[in-house]
Amino acid sequence: MTAEGYITDVAYIPGFYPNMSPVAMRYVASLNRVAPPPMADGFRYLELGCGLGRSLTTLAAANPKGRFVGVDVNPAHTKVVEEEIAAGDLSNASVITADFSTLPDDIGEFDFIALHGVFSWVSPEVREAVLQIAKSRLKAGGLLLVSYNAMPGWAHLQPIRGILRQYAALRAGDSVQKVREALGYLVYMRDKHGKYFEDNPRAAAYVDGILKQDIRYVAHEYLNEHWTAFYFAEVAGLFREAGLAFVGSLPVHTNFWDLCVRPEFQELFRTTNDRLVTESHKDFCANTAFRWDLYAKAPRLMPTVNDRLREIDDLHFRLARPGITVPYQVNLGVVTSTVQGPLYQSLLGMLAQGSMRLSEILASPQVSGTAPADLAKAVDAGVAMGLFDVTAGPVRPAAARAPEAVRVVLPFNAAILRTDSLGGRPLALASTSSGTGHALGDFDAAILDELATRGRHGVAERVETRLAGSGRSLQQNGQAVTDAAARRQLVSDACDAFIMTGLPQLEALGIVTKA
Ligand SMILES: C[S@@+](CC[C@H](N)C(=O)[O-])C[C@H]1O[C@@H](n2cnc3c(N)ncnc32)[C@H](O)[C@@H]1O
Repeated sequence: MTAEGYITDVAYIPGFYPNMSPVAMRYVASLNRVAPPPMADGFRYLELGCGLGRSLTTLAAANPKGRFVGVDVNPAHTKVVEEEIAAGDLSNASVITADFSTLPDDIGEFDFIALHGVFSWVSPEVREAVLQIAKSRLKAGGLLLVSYNAMPGWAHLQPIRGILRQYAALRAGDSVQKVREALGYLVYMRDKHGKYFEDNPRAAAYVDGILKQDIRYVAHEYLNEHWTAFYFAEVAGLFREAGLAFVGSLPVHTNFWDLCVRPEFQELFRTTNDRLVTESHKDFCANTAFRWDLYAKAPRLMPTVNDRLREIDDLHFRLARPGITVPYQVNLGVVTSTVQGPLYQSLLGMLAQGSMRLSEILASPQVSGTAPADLAKAVDAGVAMGLFDVTAGPVRPAAARAPEAVRVVLPFNAAILRTDSLGGRPLALASTSSGTGHALGDFDAAILDELATRGRHGVAERVETRLAGSGRSLQQNGQAVTDAAARRQLVSDACDAFIMTGLPQLEALGIVTKA
């Protein structure tokens, strides 16, 4: 079964993508001096191709003032989304089963439109329908986020997709069965040193990564008829024709070319003023294989720091993790950068006391010797390098210890803990303080679920019983732990560690509170 060549016989996997949060989109717009849509009085958000809807529902739970609408052509997907909306008591989220070309006329206009895992995987006709939606359904000043497989990073990997798809077409069964057999063929070709793999050793190594993926993901990534990897300039051209201008990209560090390319390319970037050209240079220098790009309709520019403060001073900055100190080294793929110096020392000290708005940072006596524009730049670079996080509202620093008895605040989070604990994949819990979701391991999720439903006493024993009944293996250093005493000790240590460090973080984010 296909919708314009897109597979619909196998359901996708649930996943939360923080890049899709309205906070992340607004912040990246502001970083690039484009005024983002305000959030304080409510906003409308559309996700095209929402799949099983985890990004949609998590963001709806985290942003009660927003209205979230998901669209997907696969009724098996939208049924799951509907069930999760009901289980999470999300009155601000809904989902529509439709092809992009047949959206209801009365769907209205949106401040934010996002599509992840869609643009590279659908036919030119479906892409055209997406562009029509961008043209007609994004408000003036609205932001659109699109992800896609990019060139040149896919150049040496495209034949892998060709091998999988062509072999799968010869096999019988559903898409999962076909891709499983095609994977066997791919491994055979690689292990027998087929000339393609001999000439492309990185493609040979890439096969191991595919084998670790969920088979449903592999089917959706590789079996669609119209899979296309795009150059940035091609996508920018398509959106320009739809009346949208390129704003910037996610994650945040990709807006800083010096964090993405080696220093020997500096001259190339210093002498180029055109951002559209810079992006192409960056992709060639960094061999980019995947992009998340932000576009705006009728963007309003914010030339000065004061303009920026007027538009985004509802956002807060906080320490990304407790205990960050300088010098701080980070490698975001290609170059290693070091953050150091008194300015960052002061910023870290200030934000250790709790989150601050940009205006509060600029007015702080600890950094009064630095010009506002330079301070704003330092804060942005700190976010890019992972020192600071941006949140929708204030976030307190984590307390030394969490309360003895805790309760999970949102029905949505309680429902996710019930369904996804020990599911073998990380999950995300929504925070109304940060306006986004926060990753939690499926094992920690079981500990939290037990703590919140039945208290701290005997938690390790209960988690161990749950683990035994779940079929999920317990691993240490990549090995399954089968010895009973060793298992008990591991579970008990994991509970202690979560209570000491994980739980206070979740309390600071308002995800749990004192019962
Ligand atoms: C790879 S999945 C991504 C799902 C989700 N965005 C995520 O990242 O988890 C792509 C989704 O787009 C949907 N889709 C594909 N073609 C479509 C179309 N023409 N109209 C509506 N949805 C479509 C598929 O059913 C699928 O759920």
